[in-house]
Amino acid sequence: MTLQYQDPQLRQRGRASVDFLAQMAMASGGIRQKVDTAIAQSVPDPSDLPDDLDDRLAFMDAALAEEDAYVIQQLMGDWHGRMHGRIAAEAFEEVKDDLADAFAEAEKGPATLILDSELQPPAYWDGVSFHRTGPWDSHEEMGYVHGEIVHKKMVARFFPGGIFKQRAEVAALAPRDDYKRILDMGCSSGHFTSALQMTYPDAQIVGVELAAEMLKHAWRTANANGWSWELHQKLAEDTGFDDASFDLVTSYIILHEMPESAIRKLFAEAFRLLESGGDMLMSDVTRFADMDKLAVWKADRGAKFGGEPHWRESASLDFAEIAREAGFVDVKAEGIYPHIVQGRKP
Ligand SMILES: C[S@@+](CC[C@H](N)C(=O)[O-])C[C@H]1O[C@@H](n2cnc3c(N)ncnc32)[C@H](O)[C@@H]1O
Repeated sequence: MTLQYQDPQLRQRGRASVDFLAQMAMASGGIRQKVDTAIAQSVPDPSDLPDDLDDRLAFMDAALAEEDAYVIQQLMGDWHGRMHGRIAAEAFEEVKDDLADAFAEAEKGPATLILDSELQPPAYWDGVSFHRTGPWDSHEEMGYVHGEIVHKKMVARFFPGGIFKQRAEVAALAPRDDYKRILDMGCSSGHFTSALQMTYPDAQIVGVELAAEMLKHAWRTANANGWSWELHQKLAEDTGFDDASFDLVTSYIILHEMPESAIRKLFAEAFRLLESGGDMLMSDVTRFADMDKLAVWKADRGAKFGGEPHWRESASLDFAEIAREAGFVDVKAEGIYPHIVQGRKP
């Protein structure tokens, strides 16, 4: 049951399309090398690149416009961006009837799912096609399509370091092992939440997430594993939970999907929700401050064309400073990817 639930046996057509996309991403290494060689010739010293990020994009596009490898790389990236969500959804369509029993079985508890049909999503999220997969609430089974097909059958195959191993390593960084009530902000389909559960098996795990479609998958995953999660459709930066009702508040890779004002509110909300002595553990993408100008250009360009409208603003922030402003003490920031910020409520 759990295996069928978590690892869909795709039909031949869907499997071939998914494999093609994953192989295409893996095979692009040779082209990337050619592009890197062309970049090294065009930009011998990255510190000479324009400071302004829009000027830098324009400068690099002009410098590489005649490079075949660059043009091919952009075309492949664009095609991948446009097609992966559609291919994953079509592959799901072929197996959806096979999964109906497993879904029904995984809806019997012990986890609780509390949806809020009145919730007004923020403008920075509503209708945005993050990663160009489609908005997080754009498919009634987006949690399954994204969590099981896009993530596990495509991204996990070419992501350096392994997306699930990284989550387990980050979860284990919190300083105590006796947490009683953990909140995971932006829990999505529950990948990091699962790592928290396995790392702190005695804690009550609570997740908040805007998209009911993602939460539904987290809920079924918890149920299929016998985990008693409490999952709420709520805004991470304004949860409405009681003050001091958690001893650990976490997030994994949600902050680059938020503008600065919402990020500041999220850290303040984490502070409010923690009891005195409670810990905060947030992780996100590489800070622009930790890269040279060329690496920033690559990340910024990837974000611009990869459906990440808030990445530039978010990756330019100093989360440690924001955490201190929210009131956290013993703040430390470390790691390139993911970049991890920890702090304690005094
Ligand atoms: C990249 S995913 C998070 C990944 C997840 N933590 C994991 O380990 O796979 C970002 C998630 O955050 C959710 N999200 C974005 N802004 C949010 C907000 N303000 N409040 C709650 N959830 C939010 C999105 O709907 C999406 O499901």
